[in-house]
Amino acid sequence: MIHLDNLTKQYDLPSGKGGTIVAADGLTLDVPDGEVFGLVGPNGAGKTTTLKMICGLHEPTFGTVAVNGVDVQRAPEEAQRHIGYLADFFSLYDDLKVWEYLDYFAHAYKMEEAAIPGRVNEVIRLMNLESKRDELITGLSRGMKQRLGVGRAIIHDPPLLVLDEPAAGLDPKARVELKALLKDLHARGKTIFITSHILADLEEICTSIAIMEKGHLLRVGRLEDVMQEGKSVRRLRIRLATSGFALTDWLSARPGVSGVAARGTAVEFALEGGDEHIATLLRELIAKGAPVCGLEEMSESLERLYSRISSGEVM
Ligand SMILES: Nc1ncnc2c1ncn2[C@@H]1O[C@H](COP(=O)(O)OP(=O)(O)OP(=O)(O)O)[C@@H](O)[C@H]1O
Ligand SMILES: [Mg+2]
Repeated sequence: MIHLDNLTKQYDLPSGKGGTIVAADGLTLDVPDGEVFGLVGPNGAGKTTTLKMICGLHEPTFGTVAVNGVDVQRAPEEAQRHIGYLADFFSLYDDLKVWEYLDYFAHAYKMEEAAIPGRVNEVIRLMNLESKRDELITGLSRGMKQRLGVGRAIIHDPPLLVLDEPAAGLDPKARVELKALLKDLHARGKTIFITSHILADLEEICTSIAIMEKGHLLRVGRLEDVMQEGKSVRRLRIRLATSGFALTDWLSARPGVSGVAARGTAVEFALEGGDEHIATLLRELIAKGAPVCGLEEMSESLERLYSRISSGEVM
């Protein structure tokens, strides 16, 4: 659906004394159909710049972008038909009604006249805005406005949705609604390319992610593969049936164990090594008479993995 080839963007430094900043540095990436692809990275990493080049809103300094097989620079108008873009900061026309706003954009996309009223109503239903159909945009909550923005992006039914921080500023309930909406659009066959600083949300909806920093992609892959990386250290939790065994002390004294922390009757810790190390530890622990009634491996959050990758802890 998206193909980036050596995509590069240099901006001139604003000082006027010459010099450039490389916001995207030779990005090569393929995003297949049907993915929910999350782009994460700190402020200034180059995410918005990349999204704008994908949508044909910024001219690359070098390299090319193709969306659904269409070269975005060579055939921008045709490419637009395949892309629905929601910018990080977008304005709505407050004095229009919800349906008028969508109708306006349907016309702007030169949709077939006869199909517009039906499509406008369909999008209003999809966005769960039926009760606001005839109301002015100015009276919508922030979450509703965000959904209307997504509605505008999909009014012409593009196969690709490009969303720049759509969850920014939303309360937890509105975030849950937005996630449900994106899952629904994904189930309807849309490919979604999304940035967010709310990594827990991305972890829930993405099929693949890329981690970007200083214009480079540090990691790209299926969510589960990226999450699997750097797992030479496992986070484990052992639960005892009764108190009385000094599990914390016992674990802390063992080689390869770190980060020991008591959590009620359970103890969490990190262990270096593979399955056989876990088996050995458990065998010795039981031989010591510890009343072990549970062992579980805790999955690492994207949040934590991301901070480990960007701090260089996972190379
Ligand atoms: N129009 C511009 N002119 C000059 N420099 C720019 C311009 N737009 C972005 N930059 C610079 O390019 C770099 C990447 O910016 P970009 O907005 O793409 O980052 P981002 O990853 O989207 O960050 P954020 O998480 O804050 O949205 C930054 O150093 C920024 O200052
Ligand atoms: Mg940005």
